[in-house]
Amino acid sequence: MKIGITYDFNGLRSERIGATHGITPKEWEALKPRLVAAHRAILQLRQSQQIGFLDLPYDLALADHISKIAKKIRNKFDTFVVIGIGGSALGNIALHTALRHPYHNEISWKKRGKVPTIHVPDNIDPDRLAGLLDTLDLKKTFFNVISKSGDTVEIMSIFMWIKELLFKKLGPKKARRHFLITTDPQHGSLRAIAEVEGFETLPIPSNVGGRFSVLSAVGLLSASVSGIDIHDLLSGAAAMERACMTAKSPEKNPALTAAGYHYLMHTAKNKNIQIMMPYAHALKDIADWFRQLWAESLGKAHNRKGQKIYTGQTPCKSLGVTDQHSQLQLYMEGPYDKVITFLSTEKFHHRIYIPETMTYQTSIQYLAGHTLNELLEAEYTATQLALQNAQRPTCAIKLSEISPRTVGALLMLLELQTAYAGELYDINAFDQPGVEAGKQYAYGLMGREGYEAKAKEVTQAPKPKSEFLISL
Ligand code: PA5
Repeated sequence: MKIGITYDFNGLRSERIGATHGITPKEWEALKPRLVAAHRAILQLRQSQQIGFLDLPYDLALADHISKIAKKIRNKFDTFVVIGIGGSALGNIALHTALRHPYHNEISWKKRGKVPTIHVPDNIDPDRLAGLLDTLDLKKTFFNVISKSGDTVEIMSIFMWIKELLFKKLGPKKARRHFLITTDPQHGSLRAIAEVEGFETLPIPSNVGGRFSVLSAVGLLSASVSGIDIHDLLSGAAAMERACMTAKSPEKNPALTAAGYHYLMHTAKNKNIQIMMPYAHALKDIADWFRQLWAESLGKAHNRKGQKIYTGQTPCKSLGVTDQHSQLQLYMEGPYDKVITFLSTEKFHHRIYIPETMTYQTSIQYLAGHTLNELLEAEYTATQLALQNAQRPTCAIKLSEISPRTVGALLMLLELQTAYAGELYDINAFDQPGVEAGKQYAYGLMGREGYEAKAKEVTQAPKPKSEFLISL
């Protein structure tokens, strides 16, 4: 069975966009031994169980278990809220946007398949959370608290707030059944709390980091609750994993080839910005999810030898055709510092015809008889061509359709691409030391024990000088 994904690298090649901005055959050939080494390194990390994301699609017992839990939740609750952030939220959002009705929460329960509405606030903004609360009937709301570390300050704070509200309103016995905690099997405060309070739990394997966890219980529970076929999702991811990991050469491995081209684009052609531009609203939040994956994995100060390298491409998201009217001018004529990855689909679920109407206005009649699908495809083709003719590097991922299977495959492809890229940069793509510094100051300011020195550093930091402040 075909996976249904085509990755087109033509727009990155010198044959198409010239040698100043495109990768030449010589540059590509020179990289090949490093691609082979990167593949070997990923195999080794997997064998030594330092990375676990490649094995997630094969845990079918977990998928069965999650499907059963999801069915129980669907039968009892109207609303499902994910309390998670970063890697514990973005994958959930991406799956819902890709695979559910675009107005899932707005249409009737019957129309959306008799499943709950889904909310993933992904922030601690008090106005937004209080606003969300205004829409919820707590008696009919289920909360999935997700944190790999089990200690993320934002998640613990929201959890403390909502748990108290529910326990007061419904009493501990009933309220407890409104929560499921997804966290590390052993470590962290959430795991300890779940044991003391008796909350139901799902595990996140210790060797799967947040941004690589969408195909674990992190993404699967909310997906299954909302009616997405998680077995199909995993089967697509497994097919992609096998195709890449057993490929006979780098050029037969789309994740490795993509990592190679993007690495060269950055290091040899100075393309410091990586733009993902879907031409399907359903794929929009995959670009958001990928933004975290690429940024946190590859934005690093040190390589594995401990040398300072300050590397990483800045990932941005864009949306076709919307951003043709907002960003494209910059992509076409601004600095030559970007590489664009298009995402698109061969098929939409709907076809909208443009009828013959207002015939007195001859200037618009060329549209009559066409479809919005044709117009979208035409604009996509035209944008790609215009960018390539302006020597702007582009590549394109095309899905045969947007289904759980192709989306599962796409997520695996992009995760593996990122992991390979980490090897080419010779960095650890699986940690995020840069996020820690800010977190420690926040802990200090919130009075966490052991972080008193950090709090002091903040209070002693230079005060803003009044001559550089304009306050009206
Ligand atoms: O990729 C990562 O590890 C991070 O972005 C985390 O997902 C994010 O910080 C949330 O962490 P946690 O799941 O531990 O609450």
